[in-house]
Amino acid sequence: MSAFGNSKMAVVVLGAGKGKRMKSDIPKVLHPVCGYPIVKYVLDEAGSLGAGATVLVVNKGAEGVRSAVGTDVSCVEQGEPLGTGHAVKVALEELDSAFDEMLVLPGDSPLIRGDTLQALIDARRSQDAAASLLTAELDEPEGYGRVVRDATGGVERIVEEPDASEGERALREVNACTYAFSRPLLEEALGSLTTENAQGEYYLTGVVEYFVSGGQKVVPVKAGAEEVLGINSREQLATVGSIMRHRVNKALMDGGVTLMDPDKTYIDHGVEVRRDTVIMPMVFIAGHSRIGSCCRVGPCTAIKDSVIGDRCAVEFSSLEGCEVSEGVNVGPFSRLRPGTRMGPGSKAGSFVEIKNTAVGRGSRVPHLSYMGDAVIGDEVNIGAGSITCNYDGEEKHHTEIGDRAFIGSDTMFIAPVKIGKEAATAAGSSISKDVPDGSLGIERADQENVEGWRERRKKKGSKKKGTREV
Ligand code: UD1
Ligand code: CA
Repeated sequence: MSAFGNSKMAVVVLGAGKGKRMKSDIPKVLHPVCGYPIVKYVLDEAGSLGAGATVLVVNKGAEGVRSAVGTDVSCVEQGEPLGTGHAVKVALEELDSAFDEMLVLPGDSPLIRGDTLQALIDARRSQDAAASLLTAELDEPEGYGRVVRDATGGVERIVEEPDASEGERALREVNACTYAFSRPLLEEALGSLTTENAQGEYYLTGVVEYFVSGGQKVVPVKAGAEEVLGINSREQLATVGSIMRHRVNKALMDGGVTLMDPDKTYIDHGVEVRRDTVIMPMVFIAGHSRIGSCCRVGPCTAIKDSVIGDRCAVEFSSLEGCEVSEGVNVGPFSRLRPGTRMGPGSKAGSFVEIKNTAVGRGSRVPHLSYMGDAVIGDEVNIGAGSITCNYDGEEKHHTEIGDRAFIGSDTMFIAPVKIGKEAATAAGSSISKDVPDGSLGIERADQENVEGWRERRKKKGSKKKGTREV
């Protein structure tokens, strides 16, 4: 695709309107598809064309949309949304008259590709037409405007479904609401629109009929069915989401990642996975996440906003806001919460929860532990069932565990507390005082053995069943 020659063209993305069919409090164009807002896909593809300006038409006060799209795109408020024709009119008022060519596209159709848009622009230019419009043949055209052609195959007009006759509804060629226009001719045509239709709106589609009846040329350009799919309902959100997921997954596979079952792999737009990593079924990788090479991820794992190094294995686990170095083993059944940093070759094993904690190189938290607000040095072993008691009901406190410390099973760290280098704790100890380097911290009541207990119990047991006696 060439971005050359589009500098006098302005792009108008339509993102206002009521979005009634979504039944949502969130603006329609902000609903995520593979974790990325619908309208951002459209803006990214349009952005690849190198147009001189891009405006997004938004509802009044659409702060959420403004902050999602950032400052590169200027937003124009439509006020009362009176239809797609009205939306374009409002946008044109904001655009310098030096822009003599317009690309108009809907903000609710995220599968469109930049190459297709360029082909649409080129088609209008090459025939010096008033407009070119994108169409597609759909097996299920319900809900879309239909393209009515004349006897010679030329476009005659677009008819919206609520206004269509039975015969017109049977047409399968739909309007994508995506057009290239000569700006002066568009402005003239917009002036002719009325609200005399079933929905009482200024339909942008009306400009097509205006051009054709005035002897102007309108060039149809056919796209693949997938690209024109719009999102007006939750069902269409799911359909488009599934197609986008396949695109994301295909790109990863093309880049050398094995997906054992792409239909059961849920990876967000923008997630990076390096080659020779194998992703098992029911894996969800979301947000700003990066996975290194030669990893094995899953099955049944959710990773969000986390960076995972090379050669890691993560199974049946949940990770959020974590940094995991190379060669780390996580799971099965670990939960790594925000602020977890796993050093090279470290391990978080089964039924382990870690939060805001650095685990040093080669250190292991293999079983049934909670480590929160701690710094664990290198080559430390944390015995099964150990817990940082980091919260006193009011504040969080830190635990520090030095290099090569050996933590006995079931150690409670009553934070704040510090365990020295090469120190140890005895199993079952509640450690509330610092343990110096190389020392053993032990906190246990002496054990008492009651000799002959079983024999005595047997004799008494028949009389007093169920009573405990030492
Ligand atoms: C529109 C087209 C239809 C086409 C379909 C393709 C019209 C009248 N109909 O129908 O021919 O088949 O798209 O997806 O153009 N919007 C505004 N302001 C408004 C109304 C809508 O900005 O006042 C925006 C919406 O956010 C949306 C786009 O324009 O992104 C299209 O509006 P929508 O209501 O979804 O129109 P459709 O019924 O899908
Ligand atoms: Ca739509």
